[in-house]
Amino acid sequence: MTSTGLPESLIATLPGTAYTDPGIFAREQEHIFEAMWFCAVRAADLAGPGAFRTVQVGRESILLTRARDQSVRAFFNVCRHRGAKLCTQESGEVKRAFQCPYHAWTYDLTGKLVAAPNLTKMPDVSRTEYGLASVATREWLGYVWVCLAENPPPFDEVVQDVVARLGDVDSIERYDVESLEVGRRIVYDVKANWKLIVENFMECYHCATIHPELTEVLPEFADGYAAQYYVGHGAEFGEDVQGFTVDGSEGLDRIPGVTEDQDRRYYAITVRPQVFINLVPDHVIFHRMYPVAPDRTVVECDWLYLKHVVDSGKDVSRSVELFDRVNRQDFDACERCQPAMNSRLYAKGGVLVPSEHHIGEFHTFVQERLNAGRRE
Ligand code: FES
Ligand SMILES: [Fe+2]
Repeated sequence: MTSTGLPESLIATLPGTAYTDPGIFAREQEHIFEAMWFCAVRAADLAGPGAFRTVQVGRESILLTRARDQSVRAFFNVCRHRGAKLCTQESGEVKRAFQCPYHAWTYDLTGKLVAAPNLTKMPDVSRTEYGLASVATREWLGYVWVCLAENPPPFDEVVQDVVARLGDVDSIERYDVESLEVGRRIVYDVKANWKLIVENFMECYHCATIHPELTEVLPEFADGYAAQYYVGHGAEFGEDVQGFTVDGSEGLDRIPGVTEDQDRRYYAITVRPQVFINLVPDHVIFHRMYPVAPDRTVVECDWLYLKHVVDSGKDVSRSVELFDRVNRQDFDACERCQPAMNSRLYAKGGVLVPSEHHIGEFHTFVQERLNAGRRE
């Protein structure tokens, strides 16, 4: 027995309220999603000047677009006049400006206020100062990351997160994720707290129970107790398995930079706070989570392949189906847990077995962010 009253093999999870309390969720939005670098959109989704997407980052709606000089821009999706939500669509394209539907204040693709009824009669109104409020952006791995903090932390923190899990940054650079193309995208609306989804992604104790197709391809995952993702380790494909597909049949063309020791292996990493990346020799599966409520998280998942594979219209469905099934199996499990987070039995939480102990580090990360927020 330890001081917590638990046997040595077990450590406590977070209490049930961490997954249900709107106050805790609001603090996570403020001190995690609005404070850290947040992976917002695939850069290629902003195909040309005027193409836009809106995404929920913490409590804020953020508008991302591409300016005439091809640079990606991100703004608070809030009109500077009386605060109407500028764009209500999730994606679309404007010709050269965003016009507020309320009183027609109009902003160009760099956010500058370029027109408004009677604006010429208000010469003292600065068109930059009353332009859209911009948000810091960075592009990496072909995705646009935004940070809403006034003083964004170094982007290196994101990269370091990857390095800490894979050993070195080259391990991911060799997949050339930036130049790959989206072969399929599936958006999952999951009725579960974002932390349940992260925790599930971090452990493979459940693999033998809920992932029959995945454990066929990766036999070591069938030993749910021993299966661990650890630094530099990739799970090896089974002997008869030809590719990372739903039936173990051959996959698509291998990404040229993938080395011999990365071939026939599957690597899975989490990038705090809301990204999961799976790397296999012929594709990359990239998940972004958008936490929208204590009990609801939207997960957008991209299957990325070599450009010529996507352009040629080759059938990617067998590889998509494998991880789509895995996703549905995982999200079903998370949705099964969510209602119980309100149970009085779970008021003090549950327990983690040894092969899940590393999830404790994630809990520490969440609690440290919230505690630091409290001290500010
Ligand atoms: S609120 Fe946007 S123009 Fe008035
Ligand atoms: Fe899983």
